[in-house]
Amino acid sequence: MNHFLDIHKTPRDELRAILDSARSMKDTRNGRPKAAPDDDQPLAGRMVALIFEKPSTRTRVSFDVGVRQMGGQSMVLSGSEMQLGHGETIADTARVLSRYVDLIMIRTFDESVLEEMAEYATVPVINGLTDRTHPCQIMADLLTFEEHRGPIKGRKVVWSGDGNNVCSSFLHAAGQFGFDFTFTGPVQLDPEMEFVGWARNQGVNVTIERDAAKAVEGADLIVTDTWVSMHDAQSAKERRHNMLRPYQVNAKLMAQAKPDALFMHCLPAHREEEVTSEVMDGPNSVVWDEAENRLHAQKAVMRWCLGV
Ligand code: CP
Ligand code: NVA
Repeated sequence: MNHFLDIHKTPRDELRAILDSARSMKDTRNGRPKAAPDDDQPLAGRMVALIFEKPSTRTRVSFDVGVRQMGGQSMVLSGSEMQLGHGETIADTARVLSRYVDLIMIRTFDESVLEEMAEYATVPVINGLTDRTHPCQIMADLLTFEEHRGPIKGRKVVWSGDGNNVCSSFLHAAGQFGFDFTFTGPVQLDPEMEFVGWARNQGVNVTIERDAAKAVEGADLIVTDTWVSMHDAQSAKERRHNMLRPYQVNAKLMAQAKPDALFMHCLPAHREEEVTSEVMDGPNSVVWDEAENRLHAQKAVMRWCLGV
């Protein structure tokens, strides 16, 4: 079964095929109204459950719209309003949902919930973000980079800030797509060393550099994310901000990278914290394309999961 759980768990050639399919599906939609059906209707007759145990704007809307464009139907479910949030096991939820729907997307906290869902579901399961990874986001980011700059293989990507779930999926992508990855941030917020090791084992350069200005030298892409993720304790906010302030992506930092370096952020952004408005609204920022590409990338992921 084609679950889409993580970038490092999905075969390399299939990731590339998903991106190619996303690219061509995006091209065919050119200028159409958002609810206009895709010509081929690959999800006709299919029902998709979208489960959220955390808030979401992009993931929720892009999956929902994507399913509808492809002729399927979707239902958005809040974890807290399901029996899942009141003691029913993940395994039993997976068994039951598999009798009603053809595909499950879940955004949750602990990765074990996603894994249990995938183990017991008899339909494909998609990772819509866990505390540890966010693979759908990175598929959209790869699509975005390549549509602006061509193949990402051999390029230099710099992550500035918290080595969080989105950073982890970028590390997986570095290993799968063959680009150099530099992390710059405080030692306390380093990316998961297991994933750093995994990427290095694929033969790519992964560098950790505490000096942000040095880190971005020669960068083709600079990426950041919120300083306090949904799974982080709000009580740690001030401490995290203090540690992360030197890693803000601002015009001064962008000026140290290649002149045509792109800027990405998965959003939601906290302007004047991890990124200044000058950068986010500036000429090198592709954050809105990146957000749009969630739709196209996930449509391709869903087709791959269902083999349609
Ligand atoms: N980037 C992202 O996943 O956004 P949402 O939390 O709004 O879904
Ligand atoms: N790192 C962020 C990403 C949000 C899309 C979080 O987990 O809250």
